[in-house]
Amino acid sequence: MVLINRTKMIVAGVATMALALTACGGSTSSSSSSAAASTAASAAASTAASAPASTSGAPIKVGFAQTGSESGWRSANTESMKEAFSAANGFDLTFNAADNDPAAQIAAVRSFINQKVDAIVMSPIVADGWDGVLKEAADANIPVVLEARTVSAPDTLFASWVGLDFKKEGVTAGTWAKEQYGDTDTKMVVLEGTTGSAPANDRAAGFDEAIAGSKIQKIDSQTGDFTRDGGKKVMEGFLQKYGADGIDLVFAHNDDMALGAIEAIEAAGAVPGKDINIISIDAVHDGMAALAAGKINYIVECNPLLGELAAGLVKDVLAGNPVEKAIFVEDG
Ligand code: AHR
Repeated sequence: MVLINRTKMIVAGVATMALALTACGGSTSSSSSSAAASTAASAAASTAASAPASTSGAPIKVGFAQTGSESGWRSANTESMKEAFSAANGFDLTFNAADNDPAAQIAAVRSFINQKVDAIVMSPIVADGWDGVLKEAADANIPVVLEARTVSAPDTLFASWVGLDFKKEGVTAGTWAKEQYGDTDTKMVVLEGTTGSAPANDRAAGFDEAIAGSKIQKIDSQTGDFTRDGGKKVMEGFLQKYGADGIDLVFAHNDDMALGAIEAIEAAGAVPGKDINIISIDAVHDGMAALAAGKINYIVECNPLLGELAAGLVKDVLAGNPVEKAIFVEDG
């Protein structure tokens, strides 16, 4: 395991940073380079990603299986990946976004195997269920690199993983919650990310660990699937069930769900950030704007700009260079 310290990851209060976000598509396509948010990627990763693909000079055929386009974070991540896996960097990228459907994502990976790509990169929607298709990729001698999210399958079935420490993000959010609200009776509801996904599992575990022994009481917890609509609908249900007066705190596993919750809270005649406090994770543009407006109380940043590190890993793996099995992009 290796830690890479790339950028200041934790923000609180009114911050000045905003991620440049663009929309991403939802279907399979070939991609060339496009303008993207500038990254804080390390010089080493940058060098690796732009190094010559091979002595033959042929572009490296890569299939990238993205989760979908569920959040602002995901849009920024897709942009970073498309920029790093560009033709200019020696790649021939086939991009697939599975619309948050695990079966569709497995089918996309299987299709990359049938297309005989040189390498597969994927951000698994859920952690379980990957053993079979990863074995098929191994049998076809196609290396797999995981980015952002990980799988529960044995790590012998993939070459490497690069991403964030989701548990630590949960611990950071929970520690702040405990400091702010832990001494008084606080009724909390949780907007969970996609059920079975690594960030939903790990952020929940980290947060719960951090608030243990405090007076924060989790009264309900449901998935909003990392989407703004999902967060809004689940929060509407919580408000109907408990009333605005019966909820003191929302922990949302990402900004998009927090933004949906804000809409629901305002529609119920309450004031987000005052009547009902909100903590979330990501620090996308709209989340930071809500933080600046006082509607979200605290955000833990999650860096989506993983493209150059992932591209560098693919080149290293194909060149036969040793790579770390797990590369955590560390908090600054
Ligand atoms: O895998 C990272 C998570 O996925 C982000 O926090 C969330 O916004 C996204 O959908």
